[in-house]
Amino acid sequence: MRLGMGAVRIGVLASGTGTILAALLEADLPVVVVVVDRRCGAEQVAARAGIPVVVVERRDFGATFDRDAFTADVVAGLVEHRVEVVAMAGFGTVLAVGVHEAFPGRVLNTHPALLPAFKGWHAVEAALAAGVKVTGCTVHLATLEVDEGPILAQQAVPVLPGDDARMLHERIKQVERHLYPAAVRTFIDGLGSPGEESSPGTGPGADVGRDGPPTSSGEQP
Ligand code: GRF
Repeated sequence: MRLGMGAVRIGVLASGTGTILAALLEADLPVVVVVVDRRCGAEQVAARAGIPVVVVERRDFGATFDRDAFTADVVAGLVEHRVEVVAMAGFGTVLAVGVHEAFPGRVLNTHPALLPAFKGWHAVEAALAAGVKVTGCTVHLATLEVDEGPILAQQAVPVLPGDDARMLHERIKQVERHLYPAAVRTFIDGLGSPGEESSPGTGPGADVGRDGPPTSSGEQP
């Protein structure tokens, strides 16, 4: 896309195949950089669209992981590209407070369940295991608490007989690919133009964190 004058500069964080990122790009949102925490399909999605990719590779998934330092590297990549709004799109590392200090109230996330139900990286599997008949997806402002924060949009997805996690997740993602771009658009449209008194640091979720990658805490090794 061509970045229009005054466009709100979006940085996307991704770790996976990048189909949600692709949907954000197809919606012509002003994405200026993609940050990944591992080698993944999202890199190719960004490259095909001519969007710069910053790789902040996470090598430590153990107790010694320096989350603050890792977060600082992610923030540096975003700041370098003069990002104003951060959109997480399946990012596998829970970030520390630094990202919220740098982008107060401006970190968005999409989660494949109807929050507050089924937080964490294994939300789809957890919904199936619980036997719910309806699940869905949630777009929310991220906070320091994983998968919490003010809800911006939500849509239900039925669980069908015979669903496995892959099938159900793909049906949820079909919905996310519409819901998330629309919610991000609404969010950036609601921000004041540059220089105007606007929401950073004052809006709902101004002290926020993020969504759910894998492990018990929700992170994905
Ligand atoms: C989405 O379901 C998102 O909600 C979750 O990770 C998935 C990313 O999918 N956090 P993809 O890699 O963009 O296809």
